[in-house]
Amino acid sequence: MKKVDRQNPKELKQAFKSKQPFVIKNSGVNLEGVSIDFLRKHFSDYKTHTFNPECTSETMRLGRMLEKVLKGGKYRLRSEPGLGKRLRRFFDQDFLDKLRLNQSSMLDHLLWLGGKNHTVFLSTPGCEMTKHCHITSGFIMQVDGKKTWYISNESFYETKFRRLYPYVFLTEKNKKREYKVTLEPGDLLYIPSYWFHYTESDEVNFSFNFFFGEKAWVYLRGFRRPFFLYDLFTKQLGLLQLVLSPAIEYGFGDKPLWEKTKTAAELAYLERCDYS
Ligand SMILES: [Fe+2]
Repeated sequence: MKKVDRQNPKELKQAFKSKQPFVIKNSGVNLEGVSIDFLRKHFSDYKTHTFNPECTSETMRLGRMLEKVLKGGKYRLRSEPGLGKRLRRFFDQDFLDKLRLNQSSMLDHLLWLGGKNHTVFLSTPGCEMTKHCHITSGFIMQVDGKKTWYISNESFYETKFRRLYPYVFLTEKNKKREYKVTLEPGDLLYIPSYWFHYTESDEVNFSFNFFFGEKAWVYLRGFRRPFFLYDLFTKQLGLLQLVLSPAIEYGFGDKPLWEKTKTAAELAYLERCDYS
């Protein structure tokens, strides 16, 4: 995985333009020292949707969830946009805008409208995720604890599940062909659009993420084109619903919902991927 120096604007520009993943160590974007303790202190009353140890969505105050997490409970936040929106002001958005060369796209406006550009992930030991890719690119800012990421770009034609989730593509993990990077607090990871990714956590950790769209030419060239055309012609409604839906579960679902709606092969895949 390429590492880029925050102090070197030329290198940052080249890395972003290459549309390949990279990491900035000690990015300095966490301006106010946000941490799990910070969340406990300032956002305990915030009502969130957590994914509980039974892999079911549950509404709970953040403080209560964190108490359970610190006692070893396997609770997760998966792309939590409400908390993301509240944490936005504590991060260096000017740097993020510069890093993506002050671009903006239709998708950015749509994400903005639905309040989904900034989200929070919080994971606990043993948490894993499906290997998936999507139209949005992301800057992943590791805030507290460590998390390991596996990233690869793969052929659309070998993608196993194109419609299991409303807007992401899912496929099988294969560590031999994936970049592996363990993010530490302060690290920033760029995941370009349609690169497959999944994570593993050995400790409690959380990240603040910024999702955005790329320029049109990025979607129309190379390996991304078939993914993009498939999204454009068959999944635009799913994307729109995902962006505008107030419930984050629309994008993921949970075990009780999947058991009613998915095939045996899909359920077996979700089980292998920790139902997330
Ligand atoms: Fe993702």
